[in-house]
Amino acid sequence: MSWRDLPKVELHLHLEGAAPPAFIRGLAAEKGIDISGIFDERGRYRTGTFEHFLKVYEAACTVLTSPEDYRRLTLAVLEESAANGVVYSETFLCPDFCGGGDVAAWRDHLAAIEDAAREAEVRDGITLRGIVTCIRHFGPDQAKRVARCAAETMGGFVTGFGMAGAETVGRPKDYAWSFDCAREAGLRLTCHAGEWGGPDTVTDTLRDLRPERIGHGIAAAKDPALMERLAEDDIVLEVCPGSNVYLGAVPSWEKHPIETLRGREVKVTVSTDDPPFFGTTMTREWEMLERTFQWNEDDLAALNRVALDAAFCDDATKDRIR
Ligand code: ADE
Ligand code: ZN
Repeated sequence: MSWRDLPKVELHLHLEGAAPPAFIRGLAAEKGIDISGIFDERGRYRTGTFEHFLKVYEAACTVLTSPEDYRRLTLAVLEESAANGVVYSETFLCPDFCGGGDVAAWRDHLAAIEDAAREAEVRDGITLRGIVTCIRHFGPDQAKRVARCAAETMGGFVTGFGMAGAETVGRPKDYAWSFDCAREAGLRLTCHAGEWGGPDTVTDTLRDLRPERIGHGIAAAKDPALMERLAEDDIVLEVCPGSNVYLGAVPSWEKHPIETLRGREVKVTVSTDDPPFFGTTMTREWEMLERTFQWNEDDLAALNRVALDAAFCDDATKDRIR
């Protein structure tokens, strides 16, 4: 058996960031919205730096204006994930783009996403759970609205709360109210940190927001004491190597710190982040791990087990997938 036959678990995928460019172009045409500037001559997203990527991402989101758009988006994204052998996925869901943080509008969008997830489970054999996510550069007040949306819809499909966006804006503690609100509602927590900032951003995030998983977290590889702490405390990193290389957070696959982190027994998982933006898929991520670090089938199976153990779904769902 080859690793290609192993079912994959993905923990870090932004729903809008997984939108195929043709899907977004189609919706823009249907609605007469001109966002042609975000595509290159071959129809791919045109991105460069992280800041530019965020602008293109948010421009793409302007065509997603209704629950029905999100139903279709979810079906398109899950079809692509399943085609890459993913059997369980957790996706970041943003009330900011789904009704602007209004709870009633968010409920309508979420119902459409869940509807699509049920359909895809039957059609493609893939299980989806949602992590409601605030966006750091939209500020702490908007994050509170998002946390209330998360708390109101916690349970079943919505299992987690997180934060994405520009990591250099504000401080983690500015968002402590939102993380406390989500924790008190019973949600599991993850937070982007250590993608662009240094090891101290991971330390501050752990202290002030107390997540059990960190999105990216690659800066920890610069600090042996922090790696030791992550390993001891079972903090799981959602590492997205293809994203890091594409956006320039690390210079190349060869120089990616995932091997250092794994060598220090930090629990690492691998995900795609925003696959069509970065020209990646879960298959490609695994291929590159094999090619760059000679990870074999046992390594990739172990990586997958760490991901399933760290998933935010209940044990019955894990047992069904295992
Ligand atoms: N939102 C979508 N992709 C992201 C990334 N790589 N970092 C922070 N926020 C994001
Ligand atoms: Zn991300």
